Amino acid sequence: QPARAVDLVEEESGAPGEEQRRWEEARLGAASLKFGARDAASQEPKYQLVLEEEETIEFVRATQLQGDTEPSAPPAPTQAQQKESIQVVRRSLPVFPFREELLAAIANHQVLIIEGETGSGKTTQIPQYLFEEGYTKKGAKIACTQPRRVAAMSVAARVAREMGVKLGNEVGYSIRFEDCTSERTVLRYMTDGMLLREFLSEPDLASYSVVMVDEAHERTLHTDILFGLIKDVARFRPELKVLVASATLDTARFSTFFDDAPVFRIPGRRFPVDIFYTKAPEADYLEACVVSVLQIHVTQPPGDILVFLTGQEEIETACEMLQDRCRRLGSKIRELLVLPIYANLPSDMQARIFQPTPPGARKVVVATNIAETSLTIEGIIYVLDPGFCKLKSYNPRTGMESLTVTPCSKASASQRAGRAGRVAAGKCFRLYTAWAYQHELEETTVPEIQRTSLGNVVLLLKSLGIHDLMHFDFLDPPPYETLLLALEQLYALGALNHLGELTTSGRKMAELPVDPMLSKMILASEKYSCSEEILTVAAMLSVNNSIFYRPKDKVVHADNARVNFFLPGGDHLVLLNVYTQWAESGYSSQWCYENFVQFRSMRRARDVREQLEGLLERVEVGLSSCQGDYIRVRKAITAGYFYHTARLTRSGYRTVKQQQTVFIHPNSSLFEEQPRWLLYHELVLTTKEFMRQVLEIESSWLLEVAPHYYKAKELEDPHAKKMPRKVGKTREELG
Ligand code: CDP
Ligand code: MG
Repeated sequence: QPARAVDLVEEESGAPGEEQRRWEEARLGAASLKFGARDAASQEPKYQLVLEEEETIEFVRATQLQGDTEPSAPPAPTQAQQKESIQVVRRSLPVFPFREELLAAIANHQVLIIEGETGSGKTTQIPQYLFEEGYTKKGAKIACTQPRRVAAMSVAARVAREMGVKLGNEVGYSIRFEDCTSERTVLRYMTDGMLLREFLSEPDLASYSVVMVDEAHERTLHTDILFGLIKDVARFRPELKVLVASATLDTARFSTFFDDAPVFRIPGRRFPVDIFYTKAPEADYLEACVVSVLQIHVTQPPGDILVFLTGQEEIETACEMLQDRCRRLGSKIRELLVLPIYANLPSDMQARIFQPTPPGARKVVVATNIAETSLTIEGIIYVLDPGFCKLKSYNPRTGMESLTVTPCSKASASQRAGRAGRVAAGKCFRLYTAWAYQHELEETTVPEIQRTSLGNVVLLLKSLGIHDLMHFDFLDPPPYETLLLALEQLYALGALNHLGELTTSGRKMAELPVDPMLSKMILASEKYSCSEEILTVAAMLSVNNSIFYRPKDKVVHADNARVNFFLPGGDHLVLLNVYTQWAESGYSSQWCYENFVQFRSMRRARDVREQLEGLLERVEVGLSSCQGDYIRVRKAITAGYFYHTARLTRSGYRTVKQQQTVFIHPNSSLFEEQPRWLLYHELVLTTKEFMRQVLEIESSWLLEVAPHYYKAKELEDPHAKKMPRKVGKTREELG
């Protein structure tokens, strides 16, 4: 068996990967590259790139997404367009002909729902029109909310360029832990969560003349809460203008909610999109994606490709696989630029996806569903859609929240396909069967408010003086149990008293822009005199899962480097260790490189840490260090996360309160230790319910930090209790 032989050679040669690579190259050289030939009988094009027999995916053309424009329309001259002045581009957007009509409608109505195809210019143009129309006179501000950080940043950058100002002057953005605004900033792009926090300092949003809730169709938790709050503010601030902007999805709902506010429709400009499905289901959609991208690349006319995956890890893997294969195919194929885009991607990398593709090359953008409606990338002709997205789900009965990769909705699939028809007639390849589309996809995605925990939002609403949450004006109310559980958890954390009123501690917790459990942990660091360490842990947790770098060709080295950071006690201490050593290196990028640590994540952790440190005074926590006494750090973490605990039973780990079966994530430093009691930062559901970021604790600490929540009895060791009574005589009895 050749594979075996290679393994042996590899071990001996001392150059891991090298033999493997050469062997695979040789094999690929022998494989044939077939280019798409038309099947004469059906007149259906067949797309095949034969690398190896089993690696070919066959698509069948099924339906067509209707366009407003003739299919024969020539591709828009993207390159040329880029060269033209930015004002010409602005005037070419679908919203432009409606500028005056739109401004008139805004002048005549306090609340206006604006519906328009993605890419029609809602986000970038409408705030500029308002600016030009004088809505920011006397320093009044315009807010435009985005559900995603990346969108807020990139759109603000684009608008600043269009207006010819420096980002952070007249135009800026504000996202959690990053404020790129100044006194002069009148156009403020911000995440919906940030506008929500503005209510804490300015409950009537007095400094704003217009609030535009953008991407309303996304129905994020924060957007939904904003609806209720803004509707209320609008009642006693008649001069405030409220715009609700959405892609072409169910805008009637928004209109009804805002007392039948008028809907302004921006007619779309869309080319038809041919939709293809796979003949058979694909077992490994990541692999299928990579193969399909190459198939498109070698068989299809020019035009960029957009691939939808579910998250950072997946995107990075896919990009690596693609780059790897392109390298191996070398000059056999034209140049393929592989560009990722996801929430945590640093801004310099984000900017690259908007740069025009060089002539002769093709661009493939591998994105999360951020590219579904929030961002428009010019030049996309092909969309590849595996049909999945990562969704939060919440079980109010158990209080367990988890992120799950699930099939996307039909509405999502349709938005995704639409991305292919913006500049010319396009094609969308769905990596699932037409049958699966019909039978396995839901019509729409359930709004986030109905599938997430509400601790954060309830704490915020309580801080705004909204006590009667049951009667809050929700577009879609959350499940009653979820609301109740949030109140219960906040009570357990000491944020609310038994009457459901905010406590002093609760007020402080609301000051910190992090989850209630995390803020509780920070507050508790005062008692255990370890705020320095806890700040670091908090910052590292917030850049979660992207600390370690694991390149395919250096897996062994990378894993060794990671293990070298392990400390007894668990993953939180590992994070602390990584950060501390990095700080000692003088925050060096070289150090990161040598230790397989992601420099960018660390830099972000440092930013977050500085900002949290700046807030310590406000919540009356002094700076102190545990001086190596990690028990104190672990107790402070337990004080925040006593809700997320599990114990080892004979049948594996079970959560302490709800007795749910859970597993330690294989990446955890405690994977092999299997401590008896532990707490986890989060649960991720993939093949199993995995606990990520795990810390070993002692059950007695739970009584110390949460005596109102745990009773000594439930923390007794089940093994001890169930021990069979001895039947035989003891040694003493025998004498
Ligand atoms: O909000 P909507 O989807 O209606 O459109 P938009 O985001 O305002 O986009 C209008 C135009 O600006 C599109 O042609 C985008 O390609 C372009 N744009 C860009 O080039 N760079 C950005 N960062 C954002 C938008
Ligand atoms: Mg938009």
